[in-house]
Amino acid sequence: MKDYIQHHEWRIIEPKFDPSVNRISESLFSIGNGKFGQRANFEEDYSGDSLRGSYVAGVYYPDPTRVGWWKNGYPDYFAKVINSTNWIGIRVAVDGENLDLARCQLESFERVLDMQDGVLSRRFIAQLPSGKRIQVEATRFTSIVDTDNGAIRYAVTPLNFEGEIRFTPYLDLDVVNADSNYDEKFWLETARHADPQVAYLCGETKKTGFRLGVAARFNLTLDGESKTPAATVHDRDCFVGQEVAIQAKQGQTATLYKYAALISCLNVAEGQIDAAACDSAAAAQAKGFDRMLAEHTAAWHAKWQQADIRIEGDVAAQQGIRFNIFHMNQTYTGEDARLNIGPKGFTGEKYGGVTYWDTEAYCLPFYLKTADPQVARQLLIYRHNHLENAIKNAEKLGFSDGAALYPMVTINGEECHNEWEITFEEIHRNGAIAFAIYNYLNHTGDADYLADYGLEVLIGISRFWRQRVQWSERRGGYVMLGVTGPNEYSNNVNNNWYTNKIAQWTLAYTAEALAKVEAEAPEKLAALLEKVKFNGKEDELAIWAQIREHILLPVDDQTGVFVQYDGFMDKELKPMSEIPAAEYPIHQHWSWDRILRSCYIKQADVLQGVYLFEEEFDLDTIRRNYDFYEPMTVHESSLSPCIHAILAAKLGYEDRAYKFYLRTSRLDLDDYNNDTEDGLHITSMAGTWMAVVEGFGGARVHDGVLSLRPFIPDQWRSYAFKITFKGALLNVVVNQEDVQIENQSDTAIELQLFDRSCRVEPRATLVHPVEAPALGQAS
Ligand code: BGC
Repeated sequence: MKDYIQHHEWRIIEPKFDPSVNRISESLFSIGNGKFGQRANFEEDYSGDSLRGSYVAGVYYPDPTRVGWWKNGYPDYFAKVINSTNWIGIRVAVDGENLDLARCQLESFERVLDMQDGVLSRRFIAQLPSGKRIQVEATRFTSIVDTDNGAIRYAVTPLNFEGEIRFTPYLDLDVVNADSNYDEKFWLETARHADPQVAYLCGETKKTGFRLGVAARFNLTLDGESKTPAATVHDRDCFVGQEVAIQAKQGQTATLYKYAALISCLNVAEGQIDAAACDSAAAAQAKGFDRMLAEHTAAWHAKWQQADIRIEGDVAAQQGIRFNIFHMNQTYTGEDARLNIGPKGFTGEKYGGVTYWDTEAYCLPFYLKTADPQVARQLLIYRHNHLENAIKNAEKLGFSDGAALYPMVTINGEECHNEWEITFEEIHRNGAIAFAIYNYLNHTGDADYLADYGLEVLIGISRFWRQRVQWSERRGGYVMLGVTGPNEYSNNVNNNWYTNKIAQWTLAYTAEALAKVEAEAPEKLAALLEKVKFNGKEDELAIWAQIREHILLPVDDQTGVFVQYDGFMDKELKPMSEIPAAEYPIHQHWSWDRILRSCYIKQADVLQGVYLFEEEFDLDTIRRNYDFYEPMTVHESSLSPCIHAILAAKLGYEDRAYKFYLRTSRLDLDDYNNDTEDGLHITSMAGTWMAVVEGFGGARVHDGVLSLRPFIPDQWRSYAFKITFKGALLNVVVNQEDVQIENQSDTAIELQLFDRSCRVEPRATLVHPVEAPALGQAS
């Protein structure tokens, strides 16, 4: 664990420069706007250790994945979002001496990410090898208003001399990925232009042929006064820029403003990219840094108005939760249904920026309650757009008749994962997508979505479950063999309770959804059933009903818990507390074989199902399963602690809920897992939010009704979270005595508070004493 980030409610502050943690800081201070993102690399040259990363959403490269032990059915490639044009570069020279922090003495250094405003800044005083001292202030943002633009203000002040400050703002397409094979480069230059005003580079990715045009313009000032010195143009392969020099007296500030525009072929027809990028950079320059910044900042404030969580009495916790909310919002904005959320977002190369079940299981609940419903809807449309590929994916594995298996990992709907026990067997991901549809409907009641998109996806997934189970004469029920549940530390198991349960639930929900659309939009249903060649009540629906009724969901006689999978109870069941501390994490210390033979659970598995289907179980059942499985869970996925926090809170295990919450809230800020340098755990950040709102706040939506049952950890004076629900915006404030629900909208809302119905009128506040948890029996 590292502890070098200063605690502050709204800012992430690195108070001094330590090159040994530079890659971690580059991840932490990343900025993005849903369309593109940028690690916190320095603008000026830096010869020290750094992982450069500029990522453009949806622009990827298919890395070949041929492995020695090839299995038919494996995908041909692993898609990864790649490092692209460096648009932030500004070379700085002082009287001919290049500025490079690895070669300077730093008198002071501060890097700040202002999460309220969405702005990254850096301020330092450096002494160059010649003894010249300069102060630098660099500020940049990726605009969430002008979403094709990034802007930089880079100010240099000589402190002990008068001399020449030379700036070279540039664009560089000669970039690599750290994880590329044999230093392979992914880009080919297709167009280049440089003149004293504008620099432009267009690149095309090899194999996938994605075009990205990047244009940049600049302005120069001295103590605020505009200067236009003659520029030397740089124009060579994959590199364009302009070099300008200005004389500055001691104490005078030379400031370079750089405006970049990034336009990809995802948004503009190929032949128009060059013009669009150059026009967009010109428009940004015309608007000016201050106006762009003011608009960007105002838009961030509006986002916070809908999504903030406030914690009083614990600055570290406050900073942690805001950091998570900030990154969720800059990773995905819901404007483009072709985009999704990679586990590392735009902050690193690991996981390749591709989509996992994390999106539906963790991220969607976050956007559902904190953003316009359109944002979550776009995530669902993404999967609808991939339905055809999911059907092909299932066909490739031997399924038929419209059965859909969504990929474990994807960018465009094609499977990109190639470990057979996950690619072919971790099929519960299909269930997460079905559940997300239900979740969205439950929150929004968007009947059009169900009829136009959701039902078709549900039918494809249900058809898959139908073919994936088989009747076992011996066991007198439907079994599902050879699967991997969410617990990836047990592979190729039979009857994983969670997978069987979510399959059963999907079959039931699809039947319900069919009936609903039949009642509300019969013509749409008729057209859909025709399109998918639905075989009707006698065939598909009847078989689904049989499977629902007879699928195996074994309960252990002795303990009364749901059996994680056949044979689990025969393992040597020991709590994780028996693992010596030096052997954590077990995936780094134990052989895979030893892990598979052990009882240890990577992340919520049975408990993932208990969490999702909580309404079906009484508190005793939830407690029995929690008390049984949690002690064997090693939480070696960052997606694990949040589910346990929520269940612990429900059971009245308040200390444990808080302990689990702490494990995720500052996971990256304090680099708990020693891997923040690779990028941030973006999808688990949504889980941290869930731990507060669903865990401490007890927020649930059942049958379209919002309910709350908050408690407050002893360590906090008060906390407050926002919920957007059915047109109302609620600010829920919880302190040690009472709960205040402030309706900040013009829409009245009926809800359940501590199991009692109440109504909160527009602009009114309801106050209610905090009540004890429903059950507080820790075992
Ligand atoms: C987890 C998966 C998750 C993936 C990406 C793995 O470690 O076990 O559940 O989908 O990471 O976050």
